[in-house]
Amino acid sequence: NATTVSPAHSASTASTLITNIASLVTNDPSLGDRSPLGLVQDAAVVIEGDRVVWTGDQSKAPATDNRVDADGRAVIPGFVDSHSHLVFAGDRTREFNARMSGRPYSAGGIRTTVAATRAASDAELEANLTRYLREALHQGTTTFETKSGYGLTAEDEARALRVAAAHTDEVTYLGAHIVAPEFAEDPAGYVALVTGEMLDACAPYARWIDVFCEQGAFDGDQARAILTAGKERGLHPRIHANQLSYGPGVQLAVELDAASADHCTHLTDADVDALANSRTVATLLPGAEFSTRAEWPDARRLLDAGVTVALSTDCNPGSSFTSSVPFCVALAVRDMGMTPDEAVWSATAGGAAALRRTDIGRVTPGAYADLTLLDAPSHVHLAYRPGVPLVTGVWRRGERVL
Ligand code: NIG
Ligand code: FE
Repeated sequence: NATTVSPAHSASTASTLITNIASLVTNDPSLGDRSPLGLVQDAAVVIEGDRVVWTGDQSKAPATDNRVDADGRAVIPGFVDSHSHLVFAGDRTREFNARMSGRPYSAGGIRTTVAATRAASDAELEANLTRYLREALHQGTTTFETKSGYGLTAEDEARALRVAAAHTDEVTYLGAHIVAPEFAEDPAGYVALVTGEMLDACAPYARWIDVFCEQGAFDGDQARAILTAGKERGLHPRIHANQLSYGPGVQLAVELDAASADHCTHLTDADVDALANSRTVATLLPGAEFSTRAEWPDARRLLDAGVTVALSTDCNPGSSFTSSVPFCVALAVRDMGMTPDEAVWSATAGGAAALRRTDIGRVTPGAYADLTLLDAPSHVHLAYRPGVPLVTGVWRRGERVL
C-alpha cells in the first residue's frame, strides 16, 4: 500500500509528492503523450494545500515535505459525477423486480419516492445522502452534483436542497421532476408553483435548475417557462432530455445555453447537430439504460459529431441505483462505443465541463488536488476489469480521504 513518510508541516501548507505513478491521466493535452488524456508515464504529482502545484516526469520532481509511493499504479483525476439524485428516502426494489419481469419504466414511479421522502425526517435524508456519498467516494468520486425532485412542495424541495448544499456546491433545483400528485388535474398550477413560491424557497440553496422534459413529466413549453424563470433568478439550466423518447429537450437545452443535456438516448440528427454547434455538454447516464433495460445512448455518434460527452451515474432509487462511476465507464466502453480513454475523460474532464468548471477533472497546476489511485497499472483497467473494486486511494482537496 501507498505510505506517507516524514510529515513535516501541517497538512494545509505542507507539500506532498506522489511518486512512482506508472500512468497518470492529467487531462491536459499539452502533457505526456499529447492525447486528450495527457497521459504521463512514470509520473509524479505535487500537492500543496488543496491544489496540485506540479505534475510531470518523476525524475524531475521537486523536493517536498512528504512523499507517497504509488508503487507503480495509476492515478487519474477524481471522478466528477455531474448528475445524481441523492436526497431521497426509501427504495424501489419492488418496481425494479417488476421491471426485470418485463414491466416498462415510466416517470410515474417517482411518486413512490416522493411519498417516502416527504415522510422522512431531515436526519434520515441526511443519513441516506451521507451513505451514498461514502459509497461514491470509495469508488473514486471527488465531486458530485445532486438534485431535489422528490419533495415537490416548496418546503420539501427547499429542505432537500438545504441538505444537499451542506455537502456540495453543485446543487440543482428539480421541482419540475414530475407534476406533484396534488396537482394531477392542474399541471399549469404546478408550473406556477415551481416558477413562483417554490423557486423563491429554493433559489438560495441552488446553483442550477433542471426539468424532466419528457412525456408524463413536462413538455417543451413548460420546460422553457420553468428554466427561463430560474435563469431570471440566477440559476443556470440543465435538462433531463430525450431519455425515454424523442422530444424537444435537447433543442431547448441548446436554445437556453444549458450547461448539459442529460440522458440523450433518443436523438435525431438535428439534435446531434444542435449539440455539436453549442457549448452544451451531452451527459450520458448508462446506469439508467442498464437498470431499465433500455436502448443505450449512442456515445460514438455524439463523439464523431464533435459533441462534448460527460458520463455520470444518475444515482437515484428508480432508474439507476448505482453510485459507481467505474461501473458506468465499463458500460460505456462495452455498449456505447466509447474507447476506455474517452470514457475516462468523460467521467472526469467531461463531468467538469458539464458543471462549467475548470478547477476540477484534471491533474495540472492550479486545479484542486482531487485524485484517485487505482490498484491497476493504467486507467484502461476500469473497463478491462469491470466490477472489480480498483479504487485504492482518494485525495479530495489535497487531503487523503481513502
Ligand atoms: O434521471 N428521468 C428522470 N429522473 C430520474 C429517474 C427518477 C426516478 O425514477 O425516481 C432519471 O432517470
Ligand atoms: Fe436524472
